[in-house]
Parts: sequence; C-alpha cells; structure tokens
Amino acid sequence: MTDAASLKDKAGRAALEYVSDGMRLGIGTGSTAECFVRALGERVAGGLSIVGVATSERTARLCEELRIPTASLDEMPELDLAIDGADEVDPELRLIKGGGGALLREKIVAAAASRFIVIADATKRVDVLGAFPLPIEVNGFGLTATYLGIRRAAERLGLAGEVRLRQRGGEAFITDNGHLILDASFGRIPNAEALSEALHGVPGVVEHGLFLGLAGAAVIAGDDGVEILGQ
Ligand code: A5P
Repeated sequence: MTDAASLKDKAGRAALEYVSDGMRLGIGTGSTAECFVRALGERVAGGLSIVGVATSERTARLCEELRIPTASLDEMPELDLAIDGADEVDPELRLIKGGGGALLREKIVAAAASRFIVIADATKRVDVLGAFPLPIEVNGFGLTATYLGIRRAAERLGLAGEVRLRQRGGEAFITDNGHLILDASFGRIPNAEALSEALHGVPGVVEHGLFLGLAGAAVIAGDDGVEILGQ
C-alpha cells in the first residue's frame, strides 16, 4: 500500500468509531470512502447491523459486493450519520467535494444526516479552499449559456480562471444523475458562502461541490496519527 493509500485506510478505519448498531448510515464515494466501506463490510460480516444509503452507483455496487444492507434515500430519508471523503477541507470544515463526480447525491445525503463526518488524509487540509478545481454539476441543455452564467457570477465576486467540461475517455463525463460537470479553477476562494449562493443563482447549475456548514467533524490521517477536527 502506498503512503497515501495507507493514510486513507487509517482515516476510513478510524471513522468506524462513530458507527454503532442500528444506525442509518450515509455512505460516501471516492477512494477514502471506499476504505471506510471495506472496513464497514468487515464489521457487518462480524455482526454489526446498519442500513446504508449509497451516494453513488459505484458505492452501491461495492456495498452489494460486501453484503452491506442498503436502502434508497426515499425509503430511509433521515439518516443518523453520513461519512464521506473530500478533495479539500479548510479549518472551518468547509469542503470541496466532487472530484469523483458524485457531489449531488453526496450533498443530499450529507444534508439528510443528523451528523456528517468527513474522512481524509492530511494532504486534503488547506487554509483557503480553491486549489482543487471546484466541480459544478450542470444540466446538459444550454451548456454554453450555463458556462457563461457561471463565469459572470464568479467575475462579480472577483474570481476568474478556467472552467472546463469534465471528460472521461475522450467523452463528456456523465454523472449518475445524467448531468455534466464543469470544473472551475478559480484559485483561492476566500468567499465560499458568496460563491455558493451565486452559483445557485445560475440557471442550469444543478449543484456545486462547496459543502458549507455540513461537516461536524473531520477525521484526518497524517504521518503523526489520526487527528479529529470539530466534534
Ligand atoms: C466524490 O464525488 C468526491 O466528493 C470524493 O469524496 C472526493 O473526491 C474525495 O475522493 P478521494 O477520497 O478519492 O480523494
């Protein structure tokens, strides 16, 4: 296991501390979340009883493979806990998410949970969000108009930079919800709340990867051990 992979694994395993019998659990997406799911699968095989709501088709498949019981969010709309990775975590536990393209379901699930805990290796910690390009999920109809709307909204906040359509294998990346993703390299985002509001005001934007006021704690694995931010 590489150093980065082992830190992700440590964060994922440490998050099991927060899981208890009978919980309704939001289950994240990405390589760190996958470490958590694999550790959770071991616990479930050992008798832990939980029901999960997966934040992506990919996570749903992994849960099925590991025999972790799942339900849809409509079957179980209130969750006790959601655990997920992040692309960036700032000191206020504001996040950028969506590097894996699952941000819409991830945000809906995080918001449906009484508690949302983010798991990450220490490289994800930043002072100010924005070095990681911000994923913005958009409807395919009127893509260029939505793109221009995003640029204008950002410019009004003094933010500029490349906004690129996410590609995979030479084709536009399509989310689990049938949408597209624009990755916005605005650089430092000192005004995340204002940007969040501005992006929600652009028709065609379905959701964006700024997760603000959602995470209550972060389990961060670094070379010196696991640190818990928040509570
Ligand atoms: C998935 O859409 C994302 O929000 C992931 O949680 C995020 O990209 C972190 O992924 P890794 O754990 O793979 O770095």
